[in-house]
Amino acid sequence: MIKISVAEPKDYLTIQQIAHQTWYATFGKILSEEQIDYMLGMMYSLKAIEEQIEQKGHIFLLAKDEESYLGYASYETSYQERETTKIHKIYVLPTAQGKGVGKILMDSIEKIAKEKGNKTLSLNVNRYNPAINFYEKIGFKILKEEDIDIGKGFLMQDFIMEKNI
Ligand SMILES: CC(C)(COP(=O)(O)OP(=O)(O)OC[C@H]1O[C@@H](n2cnc3c(N)ncnc32)[C@H](O)[C@@H]1OP(=O)(O)O)[C@@H](O)C(=O)NCCC(=O)NCCS
Repeated sequence: MIKISVAEPKDYLTIQQIAHQTWYATFGKILSEEQIDYMLGMMYSLKAIEEQIEQKGHIFLLAKDEESYLGYASYETSYQERETTKIHKIYVLPTAQGKGVGKILMDSIEKIAKEKGNKTLSLNVNRYNPAINFYEKIGFKILKEEDIDIGKGFLMQDFIMEKNI
């Protein structure tokens, strides 16, 4: 049975560990090692995780089975004062993928977004990431492309995807 909980300060290290175990497998063929290291440092230092949660108001959900943590997702309701919930992150450990954990995390966020009266879910995904197929399967559609300059000459080449809820 998968349980979902809201991350607290004691969980920040777990989030960082899952990110490090998942990112190289996910982006190894898409991004250079330098870019992965740079982005992990930027988004997943303990200070960066703390800032996202405690200053920016991102909520991190953790998924756990009887034994261990398997993945996380972060979101922000009423993003930029719109009726949309932004999903900032969703990562499931390579060994736990394809077993329904991602879907459970997404369903949890969708339920909360509806309770807040939001009308859409929105996210960014790398244009070469097979996760696009997962998102399409659960009802997201590609809205447009977005290139984001993240400094040091690195670029994020994304699609913005949305789902009506
Ligand atoms: C993308 C991700 C979050 C999906 O979570 P998951 O637990 O593996 O997916 P689920 O098992 O809940 O899959 C739900 C459905 O989507 C399908 N699906 C999942 N990943 C898929 C993929 N890459 N391609 C096609 N279909 C996929 C599953 O087959 C399943 O279909 P079903 O309901 O008919 O059985 C997870 O694979 C992951 O963490 N990937 C690496 C990190 C990543 O890319 N994160 C997104 C960054 S934007």
